[in-house]
Amino acid sequence: MVLTLTGETAHDRSAIEHAADVLRGGGLVAFPTETVYGLGALARSPEAVARIFAAKGRPSTDPLIVHVLADWPLDEVFDLADPGLVDGLGNGADDELTDELIAAHWPGPLTIVRDKHHSIPDIVTAGGSTVAVRAPAHPVAQALLAAVGEPIAAPSANRFSYISATTAAHVVADLGDAVDIVLDGGPATAGIESTVVRIDGDVLIVLRHGALGIDALTAALDRGVDVVVPAPDSATDQSPGRLVRHYAPATTAVACPAATTPPDDLDGPVCYVGYHDAMPALPSEWTVRDLGSIEALDAVAAGLYTALRELDDGTFTTLVLQLTGRDGIGAAIDDRLRRSASGRVL
Ligand code: TXA
Ligand code: MG
Repeated sequence: MVLTLTGETAHDRSAIEHAADVLRGGGLVAFPTETVYGLGALARSPEAVARIFAAKGRPSTDPLIVHVLADWPLDEVFDLADPGLVDGLGNGADDELTDELIAAHWPGPLTIVRDKHHSIPDIVTAGGSTVAVRAPAHPVAQALLAAVGEPIAAPSANRFSYISATTAAHVVADLGDAVDIVLDGGPATAGIESTVVRIDGDVLIVLRHGALGIDALTAALDRGVDVVVPAPDSATDQSPGRLVRHYAPATTAVACPAATTPPDDLDGPVCYVGYHDAMPALPSEWTVRDLGSIEALDAVAAGLYTALRELDDGTFTTLVLQLTGRDGIGAAIDDRLRRSASGRVL
């Protein structure tokens, strides 16, 4: 059932209370976040979390992100060696860096991976000893967390390995009756998932580029940190979401660097998906889809998944996805385009 939020306080509050009741009863609620829509269940209920994996067709080897409010005690989700010594965190370098990251970026599109607290069931972390946690900035996500009063495990609300959902309609198209409630809060604003980092002493390992660019991530920190960005097709053991084929349309797709003129012998009909101010010369019979300006990549990210879903309706045999070659949100866009193309780059 889709519950459309109207902005009218009493109406929205009763919709969110209803969704919280469904979660408490072990049900699934899809909800908007500032990145993409999430498919939520109570993180501490293994039975409810099992329904997420079944609904998505997600392998049990791929762990979920746990969503919290930014001011909830961290030692209820992470296993902190010595809670309370430094601003409620432990006293190691890991803890100080976690503390700074959270102060700078929560609530927001940053997911932090650390050792898990024993109350987080193994099914959430795919049996691993670490858990990924983030505090969403979206008011509906926050209201749902406040109403239910405990952590919500939520992957993106799409079928496994397909394009993430950025509207309630995407969720319904992908998951249908497998989800009990869809809270429709309008399109997700960032349009691309959170940035996932693992903290290892003073080193930050970027497991997934995302809505928070690496420059913005580190600029807000007082200390210098080493940022390690593993190659796109590596470290799948550290984060299964790094699989080469992910965020993928059913239509064959191939990624293409911005400055490259693609070959004209691709299987047609072909659609070239790029930026109006960075278009190469293209065969006249190709269709062109303009994602926006390469100088305005936040807007490109916001519309990217809707565009990819529309282009995946069977009209085209080949999609050519133009890479931005840019940093910041550009790196996240390029990561998704490469994975949409199952790693094939012209
Ligand atoms: O923006 C987002 O992060 C959205 C919204 C709903 O919060 N969620 C999302 O979840 O994108 P999902 O499940 O589609 O992607 C989670 C990513 C996957 O790449 C997964 O492998 C990785 O996070 N991940 C989760 N737990 C992990 C862990 N303990 N260690 C390493 N990677 C982990
Ligand atoms: Mg996902």
